[in-house]
Amino acid sequence: MDKLIIEGGRPLKGEVRISGSKNATLPVLAATLLTDETCVIANVPKLMDTNTMVRLLKSLGKVVDWDKDKLIIMSNGKMNPVADYKLVSTMRGSICVLGPLLAKLGEAKVSMPGGCVIGVRPVDLHQKGVEALGAKVAFDGGYIVAQAKRLKGARVYLAGASGPSVLGTANVMMAATLADGETIIECAACEPEVEELANFLNAMGARIRGQGSPRIIIHGVKKLHGADYRMSSDRIEAGTFVLLAAMARSNFVIRDIDYSQLTALDDVMHNVGVTVQAEKNLVKVKSPKVLKPFSITTYPYPGFPTDLQAQYIALMSLTNGVSVIRDTVFPDRFMHIAELNRMGARIRREGGSAIVEGVKSLCGAPVVASDLRASAALVMAGLVASGKTEIRRVYHLDRGYENIDRKLTGLGASIKREKE
Ligand code: EPZ
Repeated sequence: MDKLIIEGGRPLKGEVRISGSKNATLPVLAATLLTDETCVIANVPKLMDTNTMVRLLKSLGKVVDWDKDKLIIMSNGKMNPVADYKLVSTMRGSICVLGPLLAKLGEAKVSMPGGCVIGVRPVDLHQKGVEALGAKVAFDGGYIVAQAKRLKGARVYLAGASGPSVLGTANVMMAATLADGETIIECAACEPEVEELANFLNAMGARIRGQGSPRIIIHGVKKLHGADYRMSSDRIEAGTFVLLAAMARSNFVIRDIDYSQLTALDDVMHNVGVTVQAEKNLVKVKSPKVLKPFSITTYPYPGFPTDLQAQYIALMSLTNGVSVIRDTVFPDRFMHIAELNRMGARIRREGGSAIVEGVKSLCGAPVVASDLRASAALVMAGLVASGKTEIRRVYHLDRGYENIDRKLTGLGASIKREKE
């Protein structure tokens, strides 16, 4: 396992390019299971998670080759409906092969995705969605077993106590593309990643409209063909770098960012006293000497994203007052609090909220990463803390941030990767 050693306090300058979107790429790769024809997907980030999805596709009957940042995906002629525990348990996102396998093969056996430290990861909405389309679903030995001779379009309300489900919407939308008749998903997830998946499916010949809104309508078709597609940039990586620039009081340029997908973050930045100058596809951040505390609550898109909650808490640890950060999507997603407190932050947890009392500065310390976005928060803190920070278990970070140490070194940070 690797660790990162960061010497904090270096000024950050220059520019950084945002990679392709991890959370849009995973369902798009899964969608290639809906056709036997070749798909070419460009701007795919080289991450642990995309490599896991490539291995999963190969185990399901695909031939997959990298060509620089492109993935060329073909069929090997014998598809397999079983998504194995060894692969699925390492990545929650693998659940999104359920819908395509069911639609293409009439059956799917997908290992229940591992829970993770951000909270229990139920699949009841995935089950509800495919059952609405006529599938029979059972649970056997840790696997979801779904069967359907022929999927039939239906109207389904797809939200739970914590609101819509991103990958639940993705699964039902993909399954519905080859169902008989029309499917209407009510209270669908509106995330840009769902919209991007619908756009890719339409490029394959699907008939989907309403993507990006809470009502998505899918007219089933007989067959889907291959498609060439270029992934858009990663909304959450972009938001992470905006928060880093604010925290480091730096105005480095963030390139290949669609800032229109981060309106909730922009609104919060304004309240903290930070200005984000957005031009065509780049932004520059201007932050004041003293950052103002501002309380937030995370919500499904277009609300403030839960995937930026940990990074925002890191920023709030350096304000001149108290802020409350509530996570309504993953109320247990606070493993980063204890580690940030080791660096001199003053944060306490109360139920699904973190109470952050701003401090003047942070100091470097040995810390342990626990999940993807918590690791990003620790890197941000290490970059602005005085002294040395050592972050262990950085494989969490490598799941979702492409070449993060190289990108930060390019901005002038002192960050080294070593074997643990
Ligand atoms: C996606 O996970 C993202 N992952 C997550 O990003 C992100 O945090 C999450 O959406 C919310 O935006 C990928 O896209 C690969 P959900 P997903 O189903 O789809 C509850 C990251 O850091 N729920 O939208 O698995 C669930 O418990 C990752 O990049 C049910 O109750 O999340 C949660 O409270 C972390 N029943 C809420 O819905 C279900 O069947 C939202 O979960 C499914 C979910």
